[in-house]
Amino acid sequence: MRKSTIVGTGSYAPEKVLTNEDIAKMVDTSDEWIQTRTGVKERRVISKDEATSDIATKAAIRALESARINPSELNLIIVATATPDFFFPSTACIVQHNIGAKNAAAFDLEAACSGFLYSLAIGNSFISAGLYNNILIIGAETFYNFLDWEDRTTCVLFGDGAGAAVLRPTTAENCVIGTYLGADGSGKDNIKLPAGGSRLPASQETVNQKLHYVKMRGKETFKIAVRAMGDAVLTVLEQSKISPDEIDWLIPHQANIRIIRAVANRVSLPMEKVIVNIDRYGNTSAASIPIALDEAVRDERIKEGDIIAMVAFGAGMTWAASVIRW
Ligand SMILES: CC(C)(COP(=O)(O)OP(=O)(O)OC[C@H]1O[C@@H](n2cnc3c(N)ncnc32)[C@H](O)[C@@H]1OP(=O)(O)O)[C@@H](O)C(=O)NCCC(=O)NCCS
Repeated sequence: MRKSTIVGTGSYAPEKVLTNEDIAKMVDTSDEWIQTRTGVKERRVISKDEATSDIATKAAIRALESARINPSELNLIIVATATPDFFFPSTACIVQHNIGAKNAAAFDLEAACSGFLYSLAIGNSFISAGLYNNILIIGAETFYNFLDWEDRTTCVLFGDGAGAAVLRPTTAENCVIGTYLGADGSGKDNIKLPAGGSRLPASQETVNQKLHYVKMRGKETFKIAVRAMGDAVLTVLEQSKISPDEIDWLIPHQANIRIIRAVANRVSLPMEKVIVNIDRYGNTSAASIPIALDEAVRDERIKEGDIIAMVAFGAGMTWAASVIRW
């Protein structure tokens, strides 16, 4: 079986910064509450003329530049997003057109915050199977328009952004070592955007009831996230025959600093080995891991040969983990 490796990364976050103080002018909250309970100080939000495909395209172009790959060489584009431009066409097709990747198949993948690691597992499998050589995987989200800016329990958490990576086959040891995916649909109501789909089509009533915005059971989600993310890292490490003390970097989904600390604790990793940027971006869902990965690669925290574990958790419920030797 062929192995795959990440040969380039890129990310993009919209320019507009929304601080906790800005949100405290909109709902009954405070910078102190948000920082203590979530770790978020500020997040980026899209402008009126930006959609998910726009920021995904910018991240994709940066990843292709760093991989030194021409868009026409791409065989497949996967965009992981829970906030696509449209139900259809897929955001991946729009990105394919924007970057001129004429020879690539393209599809969206919806696994909420776990979407990037689901995409990594799928891309890795296509390469292992010998079907494709150059795969672009993107996590991109614009939650701004799907949040109820009068609901302090959700609007303080999320942010917008995009991150991308290019996968290629390799014969070297620096490769994707293991991937692990999981889901439990019995938790489907814990995080949800209730209306607009076939279950509850858009109507005046759904708009009046604000059912086109994210609804979340925070406490339940928190508990399940800590358990599922801890289990997922330990499972992928065991499957990959890597012990926790071999990990150089853990890149967890950036949902809440308290969840991140609990997961690090479960894997017995000091926080110095955990990549955290939730303070600057909030929870960017499928984009959070590729943004954190790209930043750590570009500022050279991640070095060749490092063992990187990544773990995510999201609506569905879904979870995913992977181990890479960089
Ligand atoms: C949402 C979350 C931050 C709430 O933190 P918490 O410590 O569980 O807080 P609680 O929900 O118990 O709320 C405590 C109090 O703060 C209040 N509160 C909630 N949001 C608030 C806010 N933004 N500002 C101020 N007070 C707030 C609550 O109303 C509650 O008040 P009460 O005690 O008078 O009823 C936390 O549950 C969480 O992060 N959950 C996981 C969410 C997540 O990661 N989702 C995405 C998964 S990919």
